[in-house]
Amino acid sequence: MEIERNCYLCKQVLTDDLVMIDKIKALLQEIENMKANNAEELEALRIKYLSKKGEISLLMNDFRNVAAEQKREIGKYLNELKTTAVNKISELRENFNNVDTGSSEVDLTRTAYPCELGTRHPLSLVRKEICDIFGRLGFSIAEGPEIEDDWHVFSALNFAEDHPARDMQDTFFIQHNPDVLLRTHTSSVQTRVMEKQQPPIRIICPGRVYRNEAISYRAHCFFHQVEALYVDKNVSFADLKQALLFFAKEMFGNDTKIRLRPSYFPFTEPSAEMDISCDLCGGKGCAFCKGTGWVEILGCGMVDPNVLKNCGIDPDVYSGYALGMGIERVTNLKYKVKDLRMFSENDIRFLKEFESAN
Ligand code: DAH
Repeated sequence: MEIERNCYLCKQVLTDDLVMIDKIKALLQEIENMKANNAEELEALRIKYLSKKGEISLLMNDFRNVAAEQKREIGKYLNELKTTAVNKISELRENFNNVDTGSSEVDLTRTAYPCELGTRHPLSLVRKEICDIFGRLGFSIAEGPEIEDDWHVFSALNFAEDHPARDMQDTFFIQHNPDVLLRTHTSSVQTRVMEKQQPPIRIICPGRVYRNEAISYRAHCFFHQVEALYVDKNVSFADLKQALLFFAKEMFGNDTKIRLRPSYFPFTEPSAEMDISCDLCGGKGCAFCKGTGWVEILGCGMVDPNVLKNCGIDPDVYSGYALGMGIERVTNLKYKVKDLRMFSENDIRFLKEFESAN
């Protein structure tokens, strides 16, 4: 049995069309009073009324069945309902854009996150400085492979097969093959350049080197060197000394003094080691220089004629000097870093100390 219903406004007996008008009016009221506390609630309301399956769309579907004579009136109500809903939703949205609701919305007035800029690694700073100084003397940069062969690292550089100097440089061999190894010094780049190029040669070779050493505060299994080589007609030991003094003064300050002590390297003859005056005590003697007033910095010498010959350069026509230094060593002297391991630990606190040197 069908139950007769009356319109709650006009008390007429309800037909289907009148039920629809009733629904529209009730919805209109609901929408006019609608409130949302945050963006999520607002979105839920939008979906409830305005989405494809929302209440207004459902009414729009029902509208197809409305009797022709009612269409005009109900259509008008429906349109009004839809416009009211759209306006109300955008009015509420406006409020959210202006008011801090305490929700997770992005706050555009907030100051930006601080942007942490990286800095250059101290070894990169010192490598660049060394290369720049030699660059001012006309040296250009040359590079070579880190995985090397015996010839370029040892044999061409005058290391005899059973020479004890090979032991001095505990070598990492690869695949148990005595001819594939990690270079133990950047002097191997000298060999490669001289094999390819006739003098004048004036190169500086920065790079990483490897030695089978136990890691401690003063030794590491990898570190960095810079090698310099100058080969031309009439290059003398005086030229070497001049370049060394220039380098020391540029790197450590104009008051720096140098001294050369006789030494031995298979690839140079004569060979020397260079000390610089200790810049902590000005040469008087302190704990840093172990009371001597001097600190050791690099090895150098005149390129051995055998090395020139091995690389296809005539030692009767040409002569040259070479020098090699550890970048870690120079960095330690310049910045007084006591523990070599700091260079490869990526400790931000350590790296930040070099910010101002960048
Ligand atoms: N290659 C040497 C080393 O690793 C450093 C060196 C000494 C390089 C004397 C040179 C040199 O060019 O003349 O200890």
